Amino acid sequence: MSEASAAAAGPALGLHALLDNPLFAGGIGLGALGAAAAFARKGVIRAADVARHRMLVNVEISKQDPAYPWILAWLSQPRPTPGFIASRITRIHNLSVATTTTSSGPFGSGGQSGAHFFLQPGYGRHIIKHGSAFIAVNREKHNTANMNTGEPHEIVQLTTLWAHRQVFEDVFREAHLLAAQANEGKTTIYSARGMDWMPLGDPKTKRPLGSVILDEGVKEDLWRDVKDFLSSQEWYVGRGIPYRRGYLLFGPPGSGKSSFIHALAGELDFNVAMINLSEMGMTDDKLAYLLTKLPKRSLLVLEDADAAFVNRRQRDADGYSGASVTYSGLLNALDGIAAGEERIAFLTTNHIDRLDPALIRPGRVDMMMRIGEATKHQAAQMWDRFYGDVDHDHSGRERFLARLDELGLFGVDKDGQPSNRHTSTAAIQGLFLFNKENMLGAIEMAEGLVPRKFEPSESVPEGAIKTPS
Ligand SMILES: Nc1ncnc2c1ncn2[C@@H]1O[C@H](COP(=O)(O)OP(=O)(O)O)[C@@H](O)[C@H]1O
Ligand SMILES: [Mg+2]
Repeated sequence: MSEASAAAAGPALGLHALLDNPLFAGGIGLGALGAAAAFARKGVIRAADVARHRMLVNVEISKQDPAYPWILAWLSQPRPTPGFIASRITRIHNLSVATTTTSSGPFGSGGQSGAHFFLQPGYGRHIIKHGSAFIAVNREKHNTANMNTGEPHEIVQLTTLWAHRQVFEDVFREAHLLAAQANEGKTTIYSARGMDWMPLGDPKTKRPLGSVILDEGVKEDLWRDVKDFLSSQEWYVGRGIPYRRGYLLFGPPGSGKSSFIHALAGELDFNVAMINLSEMGMTDDKLAYLLTKLPKRSLLVLEDADAAFVNRRQRDADGYSGASVTYSGLLNALDGIAAGEERIAFLTTNHIDRLDPALIRPGRVDMMMRIGEATKHQAAQMWDRFYGDVDHDHSGRERFLARLDELGLFGVDKDGQPSNRHTSTAAIQGLFLFNKENMLGAIEMAEGLVPRKFEPSESVPEGAIKTPS
C-alpha cells in the first residue's frame, strides 16, 4: 500500500490496522469480489432480459408449406378496428387478388363455371395488430424458382417482439381453424405438378355418394370393403402386412368410375390425390417419388392405368413420345418402400384387356370391379333422381325404360336377340340435363342415346383417333 492511500485512509486508522492484517484483508477482498460478481451477474441477466424483450422473433412460411394459404387467408380476415394510431400503421395497403375459377370438374354436376376472388396481402411489408401485439408481415417473391414446378419461391414472414412470441401460436391455431372451416364439407383434389402435389383449384363441394348410380350392389360392395379395411389397421400392423388396399375400377368411359371415387372420398372425409398415368411427362421416378409423399388422408387415384402397359407410343411429329410410366415402374410404385403406412389406391382403366395379371396381388389390387354400361336398374334410378318429384305415378319412368328397351339399349333387341347396343350413364345424364324441366322431352330424345357407329375410314391417319379418358 502506498503512502498516499495510507494518508487517505488516515481518519480510519483502526480500519487501516485491520486491513494490514493479512487474514482480515483477504476475507474482505473475497467478500467484495463475490458481491461484485453477484451484482455483475444480475446486471448481465437484466441486460439480456431487456435485450430479449426488445428482440424480434421471426417465423417464415414458404409457399410449399400447407400453412401458407391458411396464413394468407387469415391475414385477409377483417379484424376489429384498432385505435387511431394503430389503425394508421396497420392498414394493409397492398392487396393482391387470387382468382380461382371453378368448373364442374370431376364432379360434373352442372357444367357451369364461376370465379372466386380472394383478396390477400400483396407482396411487401404490412403491419397488423393482433390482440395487443403488432406483427410485421413481409410477403416476398424470390428470384429463385422451385426446380420442380418452375414457380418462383415465395415466403411470408411474420415478425413480432420476443415478449409477444406466443401470439404466433394463436395465429397458427386460428388460421388452421379458418382453413378447416372453409374446407368443411369439401374435398380437396391434389394433382401432381412437377414433383409436388398441388391442390387442383379450390376444394370442391362433396359429391353425395347417392348421386353416383352404379349397378345393384356394386357401390355397397366397394363401400363395405373400404370401411372394413379402414377399421382393421391393427390386424395389418400386427401381422406385419403393409396397411394398403388397392381397387381396380374398369369399364367404358362415362360409366361413373371417377365420379364414384370422388364421392367415396367425400363420404370418408378423405381428399383425392390424382395422377393420370397417360399424362405427359409422368415418369417412373416421378411416380415413385410422388407416392412417397402422398398428401395426408387421401385416396390415391391412378387414372388410365393401362397407359403403363402400352408400349411406348409412336413419337408424335414433334418428338413427344407420350407417357413413359412403365409396367415395372407402376408395380414398384405400388409396392413402395415406406411400408406400414395407410394407403388406399384406386386404379381406373377403360381397357382392362391391356393390364397384366401381375397387378392383381394383395396390396396392389385387392378388388376389381367392372363399372359398366347403363343397366335398366341404373336408368330407372337416374330417372327418379331427375324427375322423381314430377313423375309421381312413375308412368314417365316406365315409358322411358320401355323406349330404351325398344331401342335395344340394354343389350337385347326387341326380338330377344343380343343387340350389342348400350348407352352410358354419362349419356343418360346428358340427356336429362338437356331436358331439365321436361321429362317428356327426355323420352322423345331418347333415340340420341343410341351410340353412333364409328367406322374409321381408310383416310384417318394413324394416331388421329384419341382414346377418350
Ligand atoms: N353411374 C353414374 N352415376 C351418376 N353420374 C354418372 C355416372 N356415370 C357417369 N356419370 C356422369 O357422367 C360424367 C362422367 O363420369 P365419370 O365419372 O368421369 O366417368 P368415367 O370415369 O367412368 O369415365 C360425370 O359428369 C358424371 O356425373
Ligand atoms: Mg374417369
